[in-house]
Amino acid sequence: MTTESSWDNYARLTPAGRQGPPPPFSWTVHPGHGPGAELLDVDPGASVLELGCGKGNRLAALAALDVHAVGVDISAVQIAGGRARWGPALELHQADAVHFLRHTAAEYDAVYSVFGAHWFTDPDVLLPAVRARLKPGGVLVLAHLAPGGRFETHGPTASRSGPGTVLRWEGEAYQWANLLTDHEFLTPSVCTIHPPHRSTAAPTVVLRSWG
Ligand SMILES: C[S@@+](CC[C@H](N)C(=O)[O-])C[C@H]1O[C@@H](n2cnc3c(N)ncnc32)[C@H](O)[C@@H]1O
Repeated sequence: MTTESSWDNYARLTPAGRQGPPPPFSWTVHPGHGPGAELLDVDPGASVLELGCGKGNRLAALAALDVHAVGVDISAVQIAGGRARWGPALELHQADAVHFLRHTAAEYDAVYSVFGAHWFTDPDVLLPAVRARLKPGGVLVLAHLAPGGRFETHGPTASRSGPGTVLRWEGEAYQWANLLTDHEFLTPSVCTIHPPHRSTAAPTVVLRSWG
């Protein structure tokens, strides 16, 4: 099974969502919960890239703010679902995130990933590729679940995230912040968003830094 086909299988299990307006932007799995798109610090007309955008629901919320919303996802099933749901409002690309970043000539005011490609790609490979396409002063926001109470003494470590062949890079917030600094991102800051009352979901860690 290839990485692409693993993610295609995952995409088939995740519903496209109801018709109608996009759900409110969230860095968590709970629409509208916690801080929103303001963490991207962009104005109308800005160009924003999501890495591992799935079916593009968050991008659609940004497009409604007159942001140029660009997404890349390795899964053809995810991208087809996003195109069917959101049409030309989004610029969607089916590709590995690193491959896309290395081959595009575009530059972005903001780049983000929510449980997306940054969680499943060696950060020492991905972060330099992001930095090369982020405008000076642009913002990078990464959101993922807190690791399961494990303590690591080194950087984020690759671990299997379930059946199939996909690796997930897990690490404490300070380890991600160190990685960002090592790759010349500026002033990384961290916030933890706890799930809504009665949810059993894990907290979401959000890292924000500047190019
Ligand atoms: C856990 S899902 C999250 C999707 C979406 N961000 C969300 O929150 O619903 C991870 C997504 O990242 C995509 N992905 C994984 N590795 C990737 C890579 N190397 N390049 C681009 N996309 C990738 C998968 O296809 C999948 O859509």
